[in-house]
Amino acid sequence: MLTVRPLEKLGTAIEVPGDKSCSHRAAILAGLADGVSEVKGFLPSEDCLCTLKAMMQLGVQVEEVNSTCWGPIDLRITGTNMKLTAPTGDLDCGNSGTGMRLLAGVLAAQGFESRLIGDDSLQSRPMGRVTVPLESMGAKFESEGEKPGCAPLRISGGSLKSIRYEMPVASAQVKSSILLAGLFAEGETTVVQPAVTRDHTERMFADFGIECKVDGNSISVKGGQSPQAADLQVPGDFSSAAFWLVAAAAHPGSELRINTVGLNPTRTALMTVLERMGAQFEIEELGSNGGEPIGNILVKGKGLKGTEILEEEVPNLIDEVPILAIAAALAEGTTTIRNAEELRVKETDRIMAVVDNLKRIGVSVEEFQDGMVIEGGNPLKGAEIESYGDHRIAMAFAIAGLFLSEGEIDIQNSKCIATSYPGFRDALNTMRTGGEVKIL
Ligand code: S3P
Repeated sequence: MLTVRPLEKLGTAIEVPGDKSCSHRAAILAGLADGVSEVKGFLPSEDCLCTLKAMMQLGVQVEEVNSTCWGPIDLRITGTNMKLTAPTGDLDCGNSGTGMRLLAGVLAAQGFESRLIGDDSLQSRPMGRVTVPLESMGAKFESEGEKPGCAPLRISGGSLKSIRYEMPVASAQVKSSILLAGLFAEGETTVVQPAVTRDHTERMFADFGIECKVDGNSISVKGGQSPQAADLQVPGDFSSAAFWLVAAAAHPGSELRINTVGLNPTRTALMTVLERMGAQFEIEELGSNGGEPIGNILVKGKGLKGTEILEEEVPNLIDEVPILAIAAALAEGTTTIRNAEELRVKETDRIMAVVDNLKRIGVSVEEFQDGMVIEGGNPLKGAEIESYGDHRIAMAFAIAGLFLSEGEIDIQNSKCIATSYPGFRDALNTMRTGGEVKIL
């Protein structure tokens, strides 16, 4: 259990660990590459370590060259030059939808059978969104789960043909899965996304010397290209920084500097929304690491006011909705979050989980199938919070605990935080009492 008491004095500077999305992709692409890649700042969270372990079961060699306590690790990864070998056992993706969906794309093209498994949450999430297009490329998937279309997935891969696929949902995982399969396919594979989604795969393809054509919302990759080993620095995770952004933005008088964080524009819509709510940001650009822009963010806390989240903003803040809901609870007036039905199929049903827990801390909220409307500005009271095993629910409500006007917050099932931010608890203790968190 994680107990959080109200803020004494918010810390002034923090660094966050490596980006989760980039760490998954680095493990996969370095593992497929020809030669030895150095990946610095890899996020050693449970999710990313599952993907790394799966790549090792497929014949990739990984050596840890440097590690810090809760922070990122540096890896030397010897790639297979696109020649993975059959794994001895199941490939366990733990809690990670990204790991499972991206690996499914790679495994679809292998001439051996494999089986992807995960925890109860992952095995209840829809996999048809990747298996359907991958089957149309020529792979065979058998869903062995209790729920139709869910993992465990038994995969009989083989030679693939290219496709043009118009994605029904705006999902970077689906896009990336098909593009990875496309690397092995005959001809050019094109994915068309209904809205812009995070583009880490496209950017990292360039780092590994893979040509990929981006034309508006359509992304194409020619088969038969093999990634060349590359040296990468994984940027700090904007989604982890988001918790501190909101803590500072909602605390009038605070000034927080978040150092060396990824500022990929397909990830930072939360800042646009918080600015509209009244927060003030300054960005110090620090160039880019590989294809990913990085910088320091300076946040000045002001009183926040409610806002309406625009439909086109949703895909680029999808992981930040739980913490945005906390900002909304602390803001004066009404905040409307709609067009976010995808939240129903994340690590848990995040609409249900956020609404349930907001009610527990005394916030007035109305639930919709695709989102919620939050009436903010009333005092928050201490309560027992249920994380539903979802890391972002646990962390968002831990931040709410800093702003209670009475009592404390007890978060049940808080171990799940380690799926994306293993050092969060320590960082929270330091930030709650005015310290600085440095991890790199
Ligand atoms: C991710 C994509 C998003 C996001 C997830 C990470 C990725 O999922 O929610 O945490 O790394 O590609 P969807 O692609 O399902 O929207």
